[in-house]
Amino acid sequence: MPITTCVFDAYGTLFDVTAAARQAASEPDFAALRNDWPQVAEHWRQKQLNYSWLRAVTGAHDDFWQVTQDGLDWALEKTGHDGNAPLRERLLALYWELQAYPEVPEMLQTLKDAGLNTAILSNGSPAMLQGAVDSAGIGGTLDVLLSVETVGVFKPDSRVYDLVGQQFGCSKDEVLFVSSNGWDAGAATGYGFTTAWVNRNSDPVDRLPWSPVHVLKQLDGIPKLAGV
Ligand code: LAC
Repeated sequence: MPITTCVFDAYGTLFDVTAAARQAASEPDFAALRNDWPQVAEHWRQKQLNYSWLRAVTGAHDDFWQVTQDGLDWALEKTGHDGNAPLRERLLALYWELQAYPEVPEMLQTLKDAGLNTAILSNGSPAMLQGAVDSAGIGGTLDVLLSVETVGVFKPDSRVYDLVGQQFGCSKDEVLFVSSNGWDAGAATGYGFTTAWVNRNSDPVDRLPWSPVHVLKQLDGIPKLAGV
């Protein structure tokens, strides 16, 4: 089946999750972060994801905003920045306005011009996703923002991937699912989507029962994979 529907993970895929710590570190008020912002960003992201998986397997769901705050609190304590309330507040505010990667607007516009369905499918809460999309100015090229909050469980639970077919009435083999998270792209392959893993950092492939179908460095190759 030709691809009719391109679905994107949000955090790390369309939006640069390291941008919040990088931006704060460049501001005079948060010079304390200047040397170790990459470690803060890395710990924050890893704990945020770990907590999402643990909540999914135990059924102890809370929304991604809670998990994002919990991950940040762990990261700040780990790096000795706990107790810096203004820094915490600034990093959380920046998470609502993460930069999109530079190639994102044109890539999405190309897909829309070709008549494809476009969507975000993300762990993010509806409010977080709307904030990020508005801030990046890409709302006009996305048909819908699908949030796991509809099903109350995080990726890679299959009920999350089910949201795509429910939204567009398409079959799995019409969907190109794009994620920078190797585990997300792998799990979506197992689910039955054609997948593209955006591997900006040349990371090794995750050792999981399923592998991404396509691997690319950045998002400008997506229209070609979608047959545009
Ligand atoms: C998301 C996380 C996995 O946007 O990055 O769903």
